[in-house]
Amino acid sequence: MNYFCTMLDRIEEIKSKAKNFSINSKEQIEEFRLKYLSKKGELNELFDAFKLLAGAEKKEIGRQLNLLKQNIESIYNEAKEKFSSEPKNSTTGIDLSLPVNANKIGSLHPISIVRNEILSIFESIGFVTESGPEIEDDWHNFSALNFPENHPARDMQDTFFVEKEPKGNFALRTHTSSVQVRLMETSKPPIRALMPGRVYRNEAVSSRSNCFFHQVEGLYIDENVNFSDLKQTLYYFVSQFFGERDIRFRPSYFPFTEPSAEMDIYLGTSTEQDYRLTKGTGWLEILGCGMVDPNVLKNCKIDPEKYSGFAFGMGIDRITMLKYGIKDIRQLFENDIRFLEQF
Ligand code: PHE
Repeated sequence: MNYFCTMLDRIEEIKSKAKNFSINSKEQIEEFRLKYLSKKGELNELFDAFKLLAGAEKKEIGRQLNLLKQNIESIYNEAKEKFSSEPKNSTTGIDLSLPVNANKIGSLHPISIVRNEILSIFESIGFVTESGPEIEDDWHNFSALNFPENHPARDMQDTFFVEKEPKGNFALRTHTSSVQVRLMETSKPPIRALMPGRVYRNEAVSSRSNCFFHQVEGLYIDENVNFSDLKQTLYYFVSQFFGERDIRFRPSYFPFTEPSAEMDIYLGTSTEQDYRLTKGTGWLEILGCGMVDPNVLKNCKIDPEKYSGFAFGMGIDRITMLKYGIKDIRQLFENDIRFLEQF
């Protein structure tokens, strides 16, 4: 009986000591373990003593001892968890508490988005994409395209000439029609191609115009190509890009096409923006076009008696601004990621 009481006292004593054991570091957790849970710890000592008991006493002390053991183990486990520097799910090797990867995936520039859209519409009717140099010689940018020697477009005001010998002969291309020339010189009809790219003009920079911009030009040369092919092709493009809309052709002039036209699409005037864009007429000019001048074909060694063709060209920047309601062209080139990410 005496022994029984001593055992119970001892259990109570250890219980309260373990409860008050101050654990404030990993080292103290280990101290706790050694004192109570190790082979030579106080708990095992009690279990050894317990083995000497018999009968009903053994049962009661055993119950108390097991409760004490659970109690001490839970103090130990809680402390271990609290001071563990390991993340909770360390078994997977992934630390979910770390900040997420801040590397952002880039986004396509709005001009690229619109260019790709235009290209894919024409691709679907058999046009391939071609490219050429941005520094051009006089022949490809002007002469082959039937620009007379004294044409104002060659004027210093419009063209950025490049300091390269022979002087005055090289310039930053003013349109991608130069690629049309290169293509006609090197391939045989039928030619059905699209020429996207950056072009340069010496113009004052403002919210509406820039000294460089982007164009897509198209060229189709084969036997018996006529103006109705041009109209139908462009009509198809408009219906795919802008949806079903009225279009109209106005006579115009380009040295390299005859006849030449400008094409407008009908936006209407019902919104304030459409009214402003169309200057109250409802019509917005979208592109220039025409039948390739026989002189241009001749310059490129294509027989104008046998072949004819049409060409067109449009500014991607303007269409992008129209599509996304961008008011200042300069925003497209400030490379502000917050702006560019929106598209
Ligand atoms: N090259 C013309 C321009 O830059 C556009 C155009 C291309 C017009 C083809 C007619 C035919 O304005």
